[in-house]
Amino acid sequence: MKLLKSHELRALYLDFFRQKGHSIIPSASLIPENDPTVLFTTAGMHPLVPYLMGAKHPAGVRLADVQKCVRTGDIDEVGDASHCTFFEMLGNWSLGDYFKKESIAYSWEFLTDAAWLGIDKDKLYFTCFAGDADAPQDTYSHDRWREMGVEESHIFYLEKKHNWWGPAGITGPCGPDTEIFYDTGKPKCGAGCNPSCSCGKYLEIWNNVFMEYNKKADGTFELLSQQNVDTGMGLDRTIATLQGVGSVYDTDAFTGIIAAIHALSGKDFKQSAEITRAFRIVADHIRCATFILGDPHGVTPSNVDQGYILRRLIRRAIRYAMQLGMPEDSLGAVAEAVIAQYGEPYPELVENRAKITSELLKEEQRFQRTLKNGMKEFERIKGGFTGGVIDGVTAFHLYDTFGFPVEFTEEMARENGLSVDIEGFDKAYEEHQKKSQAGAEQRFKGGLADSSEQTTRLHSATHLLQAALQRVLKDSGIGQRGSNITAERLRFDFNFGRKVTPEELQAVEDEVNRYIAAAAPITCEEMTVEEARAQGAMGLFGDKYGERVKVYTMGAFSKEICGGPHAANTGELHHFKIKKEEASSAGVRRIKAVLD
Ligand code: ALA
Repeated sequence: MKLLKSHELRALYLDFFRQKGHSIIPSASLIPENDPTVLFTTAGMHPLVPYLMGAKHPAGVRLADVQKCVRTGDIDEVGDASHCTFFEMLGNWSLGDYFKKESIAYSWEFLTDAAWLGIDKDKLYFTCFAGDADAPQDTYSHDRWREMGVEESHIFYLEKKHNWWGPAGITGPCGPDTEIFYDTGKPKCGAGCNPSCSCGKYLEIWNNVFMEYNKKADGTFELLSQQNVDTGMGLDRTIATLQGVGSVYDTDAFTGIIAAIHALSGKDFKQSAEITRAFRIVADHIRCATFILGDPHGVTPSNVDQGYILRRLIRRAIRYAMQLGMPEDSLGAVAEAVIAQYGEPYPELVENRAKITSELLKEEQRFQRTLKNGMKEFERIKGGFTGGVIDGVTAFHLYDTFGFPVEFTEEMARENGLSVDIEGFDKAYEEHQKKSQAGAEQRFKGGLADSSEQTTRLHSATHLLQAALQRVLKDSGIGQRGSNITAERLRFDFNFGRKVTPEELQAVEDEVNRYIAAAAPITCEEMTVEEARAQGAMGLFGDKYGERVKVYTMGAFSKEICGGPHAANTGELHHFKIKKEEASSAGVRRIKAVLD
């Protein structure tokens, strides 16, 4: 097997598919265009959805690419050996051209042929879709692997949870997949150990998705007009597996970045488990932030949407940089190491170097100001504690008002011969969450004067109206600026720079009535603000990190953070009618509507 560096795998992969008649297309932006349902491109298929649905791609029907992706749903897991918020996905695509047979043959050749990766075939394991009421068992893929020479004992059939991909949003192209795993040689964790097991024996290196279905808003599947192939191979993960290093952070992709953190902190990467974790967090978060800032559609830190995620990444990196003893304002130097590693395949990082480093610096300075105020507060109050213990309410005040992570308070307490009542802190934190939950409900209920059935229905209609406005006016930035609901009518204020034309209002009304006619279930789930965001929920995002919120989902149409209450099904809304559209204040429009 070849021991490749990450640049070599990237080049080799594209070379292989070029030789198989694929056009190499550049990575799409990390910020999805015209798609309000997700904040970032999360998989290679995401920017290609229209072509999987049948639109003609200018580069042809066989494509290969390396797509930049960001997934922040697991941000708190970053620090372990495998989680990253940014990754590159190698993909080959058939848009209605070849299907399972060729896709499997290509994967096999690339992985096992000595001219390419030359992996020992005995190290490879495969899973295929087991079949269910929506789609049959994928015996065809199984038989192709057997034809390649794979032993029966190396192939497993697994259910939809494991062997079905997509869609990117709630509806869209999807299908069964066959996944390829590398056996690390570790012993099985038990008799039932198979590739779906997370014990670490089998590592997934490639996923071949056979997209021939479209998931509809009612949750059922129909065949697409064409059979597509979407494959995904995570670059870092595959390199780590092939290099046998056990962690993506130990691959050559991170060497320069880790070296920069070492130079700035004076600490050794493997000094202790705590230090290793902090190194990984700084490395991952600054790599991700560098790609977001350097994207052609790059955003800057803010309190909304992508800017909010970026801010969290940078601030979390600052916390851990401080833990490592890195000097203030040194994240730009880490970003330089990211640019040195990735500037060649991603020239936008070089072009945007000045923006990347200056935005990082600005955010560092903003965050440091907040932290410094907190330190002043600490100095002011530190003499007043009885028994040398900082009580939970005070520790929470430092956290809530000054953004002081409780670990900081503990550290400063230690330096001053004090300790912190952590249990008390946790209690104050929970109480605050409960209160802000109630507060959020009040806020979101807005003008909900009562919770009679009709008011509740009008409240649900408000969510559908917001979704319809975004879609019809093609502006995903439209959000609620005010809401007042009585049993007779709803009043909804939203940001929009001009009058909505009568034709557009009619289209909005029709769109809402379409959602109602679909009789889609309205469901409610509790989750953290971060999870809600990762799922693309609309709503206020100024909420505290970790705060639990309710997310209401209305079929495939709307997903919003909201305290409720709501109807159980959009069908209960009967019929929606807009009565009036007018200006409310500068840049804010007001719609009055009824259900009849
Ligand atoms: N879309 C598939 C994935 O991201 C290939 O794993």
